[in-house]
Amino acid sequence: MFSVSHLKKSYYNADGSLFEVLKDINCEINKGDVISIIGPSGTGKSTFLRSLNMLEPPSSGKILFCGEDITDRNYQLSKLRRRVGMVFQTFNLFPHMNVLENVAYAPRYLLNVDSATAAKEGMALLKKVGMADRAGALPSTLSGGQQQRVAIARCLAMKPEVVLFDEPTSALDPSMVGEVLSVMRQLVSDNLTMLIVTHQLKFAQNVSSRIFYMDEGRIYEEGTPAQIFGSPVHSKTKAFVRGIKKLVFDVENDTFDFYGMDSGMTAFCIKYGVSEKISNLLHIAEEMSQVVLRSYRPLRVALSYIEQTGELNVAFMIKDMDHSPLSDGGIDEIAMMMVRAMSREVVEEHTSLGFRVKVVL
Ligand SMILES: Nc1ncnc2c1ncn2[C@@H]1O[C@H](COP(=O)(O)OP(=O)(O)OP(=O)(O)O)[C@@H](O)[C@H]1O
Ligand SMILES: [Mg+2]
Repeated sequence: MFSVSHLKKSYYNADGSLFEVLKDINCEINKGDVISIIGPSGTGKSTFLRSLNMLEPPSSGKILFCGEDITDRNYQLSKLRRRVGMVFQTFNLFPHMNVLENVAYAPRYLLNVDSATAAKEGMALLKKVGMADRAGALPSTLSGGQQQRVAIARCLAMKPEVVLFDEPTSALDPSMVGEVLSVMRQLVSDNLTMLIVTHQLKFAQNVSSRIFYMDEGRIYEEGTPAQIFGSPVHSKTKAFVRGIKKLVFDVENDTFDFYGMDSGMTAFCIKYGVSEKISNLLHIAEEMSQVVLRSYRPLRVALSYIEQTGELNVAFMIKDMDHSPLSDGGIDEIAMMMVRAMSREVVEEHTSLGFRVKVVL
């Protein structure tokens, strides 16, 4: 349905310099696709979604919708907007209209549907999203989750072929996220073509036919949920889907501020809710960097916390080294024994840059 080539979008910063949000987007979106767009904040996900609806005219590149170039100045945007619906983070229901009027309004005035039919179809949609019993209520009397479900019904009332969702649950109280995701899950089984920008990774993994991982203004990696979540190719994708948080220290020589490293590690553990591991971590970091690997400089110490599994580990990386430092003579065996005793596992592994000893806590 959509064919996007070399899509770019830039803004001017306040100081007059150019900021490229979308650097080069290329993709095909086919009928029946359910695509979740995931990625860190500020990487252009919303900008990309909005450009598919021409709410954000691109700086360059082409977007074909059903074979027609919607970026062409002569293209009639009303044609596009009728066929492509959008659901936003904030629901923006008409505050002075009741729920049914909100849903029936656009079909009546934009599609010239007679009022009886619009009301009948509106009620059917409200039933679908579980809101039929509140048809006469004003939006202000509804919860956020209920308002978003009405907003979805209102969007569907135009019988769109594609619906773009921009973080439809992120403005909601956590207790209401589930009801909106359930409604969306139902739309997937109705074979609606959907693009969903979301931070709900589990949901994305379960409902999508494809995932776009966006980073650096590009579709950095795309694939099936099994590929993106199970065996991502790029390290940035991997870090994002596994929720890997990192803290890195470079020990250049022995004037390094080891106390500073201790307090950095402590703050990290508190932030990610693993404070019970602080004491072991600090001991391991000290033994490894100051005793076991004391003659290896520079030494990179990288602390990682993996949200998906709750694993905390600290890795010691030596550049350009082709074998494990633990197999070198002169290693302090007693210090190493203590490290092993305080950890779940010690992994020795080659990397593209050198050698890494990873201690899993
Ligand atoms: N109209 C604008 N003018 C200037 N800069 C903008 C404009 N719209 C977006 N940006 C910038 O472009 C960048 C990408 O924005 P975008 O909203 O597309 O990111 P996102 O991936 O949706 O992020 P999030 O996950 O936080 O919603 C941001 O740094 C934002 O400040
Ligand atoms: Mg966004």
